[in-house]
Amino acid sequence: MRILVAVLLASGLQAQAPFLVKPYLQLGDAPLPVAEERLDLLWQAEDRDAAWSVEIRRPKGWVPQAAPTFRRMAAPPLPPHRIYRATLRDLAPGARVPYRVKRDGTVVFEAEAQARKAGTHRFLVTGDAAEGTSEQAAIARAMAAEHPDFVFFAGDLVYGRGRAAEYRARFFPVYNADDLPLMRSMPFLGVPGNHDVPWDLQRWPDTLAYFAYWSLPLNGPALRPGDPGAAPAVAGLHDAVLAAAGPAFPRMASYSFEYGGVHWTVLDSNEYADWESPVLKAWLEADLKVAQKAAWRVVALHHPLFQSSRSHFEDQWMRPLSPLLERYGVDLVFAGHVHNYQRTAPLRFAPTKVGRRGEPVEGRFTVDTAFDGKTVTRAHGIIHLVTGAGGAHLYDSKQGADRTSWQPWTRAFVSDRNSFTEVNVDGRTLHLRQLDAGGRELDAITLTK
Ligand SMILES: [Fe+2]
Repeated sequence: MRILVAVLLASGLQAQAPFLVKPYLQLGDAPLPVAEERLDLLWQAEDRDAAWSVEIRRPKGWVPQAAPTFRRMAAPPLPPHRIYRATLRDLAPGARVPYRVKRDGTVVFEAEAQARKAGTHRFLVTGDAAEGTSEQAAIARAMAAEHPDFVFFAGDLVYGRGRAAEYRARFFPVYNADDLPLMRSMPFLGVPGNHDVPWDLQRWPDTLAYFAYWSLPLNGPALRPGDPGAAPAVAGLHDAVLAAAGPAFPRMASYSFEYGGVHWTVLDSNEYADWESPVLKAWLEADLKVAQKAAWRVVALHHPLFQSSRSHFEDQWMRPLSPLLERYGVDLVFAGHVHNYQRTAPLRFAPTKVGRRGEPVEGRFTVDTAFDGKTVTRAHGIIHLVTGAGGAHLYDSKQGADRTSWQPWTRAFVSDRNSFTEVNVDGRTLHLRQLDAGGRELDAITLTK
């Protein structure tokens, strides 16, 4: 009898619980800063009708926003569910805006959103994170303690195969927990890695969940399903995920946006995306031209161009882009894929031998040996960062301590602990720090223009 009561109680509570995934903020299809900022608000709920509404608080009271829309996700093994989306509109740049969600007239959720800032701001970068480890949770707590304005994930967003069920188990419970309100307070952005568009795609009907669960600018190369360079999907197997993704698939794999004087170019570096192809390269060059107006230029992708770790050392297929990025004055490249932290000196690279994917890309390096990020803060060349220690098991944990194993242009290499990157941008000064789960500083540089 006691068990029956417990079961009834549990199922009753379940029926009352309005969310499968509580509301979380996304930049949405809003690449450029505007005087009246907006943010997308997404949440997941059971697949049945309810009257949902969203309000934001203005000086004179709560103001309803346009009615939420939803797409249905019916990819097993999760039961069919709805991905709701509302847009918070007319936000003053930089404002903290209280918002609330109602279901059938009752307030069921309340939080405060950080609107995009126009100037000084703080962002965090990490990658290779949601493996469900205690280190992932510890890094998430340390990230929240830094009170960022937004967070960027450099790929391998969720392990092991970018599946909806994995987001439910390992991503949202950590980054959108009631006691760790990261995603409901600020936008999260990301780029797919090799685990998000996995090599064994045909085994998982609920993989490619990135395209359904994230809402990011749709200003990348105009790729359609099946186009060369587009993320692949298996007809019949992935129809449900693609229906839930709508226009985000495959286009949202690459995009660009601006935040507080920084232009971000986000590239899908998975093996199917050949950035030497005319369509992709033309988009990249056009985007880097637009980026000239910004004070800082950042490229973010999953597979690093330059890094010292023995793991994935030969995954160098993005290296041939270096001359183009240098020509347009890119300052920083953030990557993941390699599960540790690494920073190069500012460098330039002229490729001389490009092999097949997975073979080394050889070339001539020009290294800025004067830059130290302390007394000499003007960089000549691009600083490449690997920040793939966000929570998954570490790679080459002893190699960071063995300087003889570093490439000659590597300046920092920490592989014995999980960590994340914090960047404070203040006009033409940029402070970058690498922090561990205890908030301890592992590396720090200042860049000026
Ligand atoms: Fe990876």
